[in-house]
Amino acid sequence: MAASDYPMGIKEVGSSLSVATHMIRHEDINGFNRLFGGRLMEWIDDVAGIAARRHAGIDITTAAIDTLEFKSAAWLNDIVVIEAWVTHVGRTSMEVRADSYVEDPATGERTMINHAYLTEVCVDENGHPVPVPWGLVATTDEQHKECIAARRRAEMRKVRRLQGF
Ligand SMILES: CC(C)(COP(=O)(O)OP(=O)(O)OC[C@H]1O[C@@H](n2cnc3c(N)ncnc32)[C@H](O)[C@@H]1OP(=O)(O)O)[C@@H](O)C(=O)NCCC(=O)NCCS
Repeated sequence: MAASDYPMGIKEVGSSLSVATHMIRHEDINGFNRLFGGRLMEWIDDVAGIAARRHAGIDITTAAIDTLEFKSAAWLNDIVVIEAWVTHVGRTSMEVRADSYVEDPATGERTMINHAYLTEVCVDENGHPVPVPWGLVATTDEQHKECIAARRRAEMRKVRRLQGF
């Protein structure tokens, strides 16, 4: 879709950037002091939803989470930082990328523990899909590359959905 297809105009990728920080507590771990995958998924879903709402400015719901890769473990008392931002806008849906890290409190160094893409859909008061009011523009080379890849992922998701796998 072209920028002119969006009634409100366009927003920069950076305007949706949302960051969540958690310290892993006892209620977040399994019997081995390791962070529950489901808890991290909840945190990711939460911050990705905020990023999507920041972009769209209206209600959204999560339609799908894919490419959710657990790359490394996190442990009791670790500081987890999740960054999420919109990488693609379709007609009624947006792709949000969410990167999760463990941050070393002494050095600030971050180790990626998870990388995910979510599909968030704009909805009306009855939960029906409605058009995303704002288009998206990349302002850096890195964002530009990500947006091109995101467009391809969105096309692949449509094929997958159509073919039922
Ligand atoms: C998300 C939801 C509103 C989509 O409704 P729908 O009738 O399937 O709508 P459509 O087929 O018109 O799809 C709407 C958009 O979502 C995208 N979409 C829907 N399901 C998708 C999926 N499984 N994967 C990727 N994209 C999806 C479509 O490609 C379309 O995008 P586009 O308009 O940008 O091209 C509906 O499935 C729903 O309410 N699901 C439950 C959501 C929920 O409760 N989430 C919280 C988790 S419990």
